[in-house]
Amino acid sequence: MEKLIIDGGTPLKGRVKISGSKNAALPILAATVVYPNKYSLNNIPDIQDVRTMLELLKILGAKYTFKDNKVVINTINIKKHEAPYDLVKTMRASVLIWGALLSRLGRAKISFPGGCAIGDRPVDQHLAGFESIGYKTIVKSGYLESISEGPVGGNFKFKVKTVTGTENLILASILGKQKTILENCSLEPEVDDLINFLNSLGGQIVRKKEKVIVTPVTELKKQKKIYKVIPDRIEAGTFMYLGCIFPNKITVTNAKVEDLKEVISTIRLMGAKVETEKASIKITPPKAIQPIQVQTKPFPGFPTDLQAQLMAVLIFAKGVSKIQENVFPNRFIHVAELRKLGANISIKENTAKIIGVNGLAGAKIQASDLRASAGLILSALSSKGKTEIFRIYHLDRGYERIDDKLKLIGAKIWREKE
Ligand code: EPU
Repeated sequence: MEKLIIDGGTPLKGRVKISGSKNAALPILAATVVYPNKYSLNNIPDIQDVRTMLELLKILGAKYTFKDNKVVINTINIKKHEAPYDLVKTMRASVLIWGALLSRLGRAKISFPGGCAIGDRPVDQHLAGFESIGYKTIVKSGYLESISEGPVGGNFKFKVKTVTGTENLILASILGKQKTILENCSLEPEVDDLINFLNSLGGQIVRKKEKVIVTPVTELKKQKKIYKVIPDRIEAGTFMYLGCIFPNKITVTNAKVEDLKEVISTIRLMGAKVETEKASIKITPPKAIQPIQVQTKPFPGFPTDLQAQLMAVLIFAKGVSKIQENVFPNRFIHVAELRKLGANISIKENTAKIIGVNGLAGAKIQASDLRASAGLILSALSSKGKTEIFRIYHLDRGYERIDDKLKLIGAKIWREKE
């Protein structure tokens, strides 16, 4: 296992190119299972979660190449309908194979994804949705086994907004027999990227705000041109927050500005300057970071996936800030680690109170999940002296070469064997 060492306190500046979106790439890769064909995808981040998804597709019978952020995948020989425990347990997004396999083979058996470090992550809405459109599921020996019963299609209203739930229902209904109308769907841009990909293959999916209408098609067409996945708004946000901490400017390039409105608004409220031009966003830090109050919410609200990184900025605010976590109940595990660096943060129920401090000092800390790791890196970079971050495999699941990108803007960061 590797650990990350950061010699903090060095001001960072420069340009950072944002990679393709993890949470758009994963459902799009799963979508290649739906119909037997050959697909080319571009801007796919080279991260562990993508590698895991590709491995899963290979086990099901697909063949692929993955080089220079381009995936070419042939799903013609997919015949297996079972996603094994060993892979599903390492990545919650494997759950997307469920809907894709149902469309392709009319049946799917996936290991129960269960909980993870950021809390209990149920799949009741996926299950109820599948039931409403004609798939019956039994839970047996830790596996969810679903099978189609009669013509696929129908109406379903999500009780809670769920990103992968919305994606799974779209995947499971696209080749159905009757129209499917989904209500209270997630508005995340990654859902739209999946819809755009499927529609580029002849799918007939219309989104009207929180309603998604799927008119089934009998086949998906051959791909005419390579599909480019959207930029990762969470990676962009991570570097934008980094730009608020140091006295120099940081610019992110290859970003999608319209997906980052809420993030930009928090940065402006903290007193930083944000200048946008096409796909680049320049952050000029404030003289003094202003304290703010933020609540995480489904898109277009403030993303839970940037909560830990925003906290890393508010640690230095001139006053008291609050972050309320409304999406995942248990997503403050990083707080205990931030305290080791000298942060003054207390938690009451789902709200973190952050009292600004003047500086942090390096320590040995441990990453607990992907986004928490990013928050810890931001704090380690702004701490005086050396910080060692353990369990960084969480980070490698979702950030493409983050240490290399940080080195390019001046960070003293390297890996060592634990
Ligand atoms: N929920 C239910 N029942 C369900 C499904 C979800 O109650 O059947 C609840 C969850 O417990 C949670 C809320 O609904 O409280 C939202 O969860 P959601 O299903 O939207 O999360 P997800 O689809 O499992 C995706 C991202 C996460 C991101 C969340 C929220 C992917 C592959 N993952 O997860 O990304 O945090 O949406 O935006 O798209 C990450 O990238 O680090 C990450 C965790």
